[in-house]
Amino acid sequence: MKNIKIETTLEVYDSVSELPVAIQKVINKAHEARKKAYAPYSHFNVGAAILLDNGEIIEGNNQENAAFPSGLCAERVAAFYAGSKFPKMAFKALAITAGSIKNVNETPIPPCGACRQSLAEYEVNQKTPIEVYFMGEKGKVVKATSVKSLLPLIFDSSYL
Ligand code: THU
Repeated sequence: MKNIKIETTLEVYDSVSELPVAIQKVINKAHEARKKAYAPYSHFNVGAAILLDNGEIIEGNNQENAAFPSGLCAERVAAFYAGSKFPKMAFKALAITAGSIKNVNETPIPPCGACRQSLAEYEVNQKTPIEVYFMGEKGKVVKATSVKSLLPLIFDSSYL
């Protein structure tokens, strides 16, 4: 028997202003998207924005449904739209902001497991890391240098 140790290092910034201007722009787009979320059931609004290799920024937000599982997370709305509009265009960075209408959320909210898996597909295919930035509505920003660092032991097409 041997042990496998899996470690991840995340960068934590006290505020958005510590990040490069290009990333601040992506985060601002995620905030804009969050304000347009359709989340009448959870009242938890999530905005996502993806910076593509061609400089375009694609936004998405969570879209809920009365049949609850039919809804979709902000990250996948953005990723699938980016993938459909610009097939094979690399994702450079993803920004996520999230908050409840009940209080001002200052806790960085990471992407859920299903979104990590979906994002991993793009990262594996493009062979370059996607930076992931996540935050609440304001306050600290956490940066992961890749999706893989948020989802070790990725299941990908090489196993099929
Ligand atoms: N949600 C996201 O949009 N992204 C995540 O990574 C986690 C959860 C949404 C789904 C649902 O509309 C609401 O947040 C509460 O789970």
